[in-house]
Amino acid sequence: MSKIAIYPGSFDPITNGHVDVIRRAACLFDKVIVAVLSNVDKQNMFTVSERLALIKASTADIPRLEYDSFDGLLVDYAAQKKVTAIVRGLRVVSDFDYEFQMAMTNRQIAPQLETVFLMTDAKYSFLSSSLVRQLAQFHGTINQFVPGVVAQALEKKFRG
Ligand code: COA
Repeated sequence: MSKIAIYPGSFDPITNGHVDVIRRAACLFDKVIVAVLSNVDKQNMFTVSERLALIKASTADIPRLEYDSFDGLLVDYAAQKKVTAIVRGLRVVSDFDYEFQMAMTNRQIAPQLETVFLMTDAKYSFLSSSLVRQLAQFHGTINQFVPGVVAQALEKKFRG
């Protein structure tokens, strides 16, 4: 049976840290579905289709990826896609509390679904999408934090 994983998130926008996790996950699973959450309470900068387009362009060289968006509960989406595992990235110890809570809640609802944590490369351990958005807003340098297409998209947003 092929092993399928979901890597869910807001990806507003995708950063080099996310790409790093996707690359690691692609080595472990037969297929990785990068799934954008579309019903967040967060005020998003990019629409779901913009975020998906940026993810696709940033990960074009990584094999065995699928791209999708979902709303509602992650466990329901996972069941619908017949996945084996949820992949989440851990950057620093402080990520663990929130991730542990989510993983344990998901396990209560769907005991057969595993959450797999992958450690982001240390050079991205401080990185987050909101930090990148903030830097872009005030015209700081973001090229080392995000793929080129994302840097261009952010530049366009703030120029507009
Ligand atoms: N590199 C860089 N940044 C990273 C990162 C990495 N490897 N991993 C996480 N982040 C950052 C993100 O950029 C984001 O930063 P921001 O808050 O500054 O924008 C932050 O960490 C968290 O984002 P994300 O990983 O996208 O998680 P999320 O909290 O937005 O969403 C879901 C997590 C989608 C898994 C969760 O909300 C979910 O499952 N929702 C569906 C509803 C549901 O089932 N709820 C019950 C859950 S128990």
